[in-house]
Amino acid sequence: MSEGIALPPVARGTLLGAADKLERIAEATPQILAAVDGERDPIVVQTTLACLLWETLPHASWAGFYRRTGPRMLSVGPYQGPMGCLHIAFDRGVCGACAHSGKTQLVPDVNAFASHIACDGATRSELVLPVFGRGEVRAVLDLDSHALAAFDEAEARALEALLARAFHDAIDWPAFSHGALGTPDARRA
Ligand code: SME
Repeated sequence: MSEGIALPPVARGTLLGAADKLERIAEATPQILAAVDGERDPIVVQTTLACLLWETLPHASWAGFYRRTGPRMLSVGPYQGPMGCLHIAFDRGVCGACAHSGKTQLVPDVNAFASHIACDGATRSELVLPVFGRGEVRAVLDLDSHALAAFDEAEARALEALLARAFHDAIDWPAFSHGALGTPDARRA
């Protein structure tokens, strides 16, 4: 699992220690930033990050983006892993809490998070980070794991810094493509 990025291969599901995990992120970060250097299309950046973060984070069982498609609505974007929910309202789940608050959500045990959405019943912990553009939340990066407490604060800070650089001021964010009323109820999470 190191085809896209020069990192030591590690099997999916491996839980590295905190220091090793951070070192792996530090090694990957310049490679990821180089891969998206000069890109302004947010889907190109999201797709590349989903791919390369999947390589970087072996403890992730799902890694990808939910895009803001309405004032209070997220819709699935580029990801790696099993099929995710298609649409998530701001008042639902860890992703909704992140988009609503604009703050990183570190959830060591999803069963303790009241509105958690179980797209994958095996998910035990999550880290969801906001992506900003022109002062607004434009997307969230959702990282899920089958292990309890797979993510930590240092990792969250390192990934926040990566996102701030990858989604720089020149990203060409679209207008919200449709509002909450444009999303079929049956497909909402
Ligand atoms: N678990 C997330 C939903 C997204 S999927 O799991 C990919 C949440 O509670 O926001």
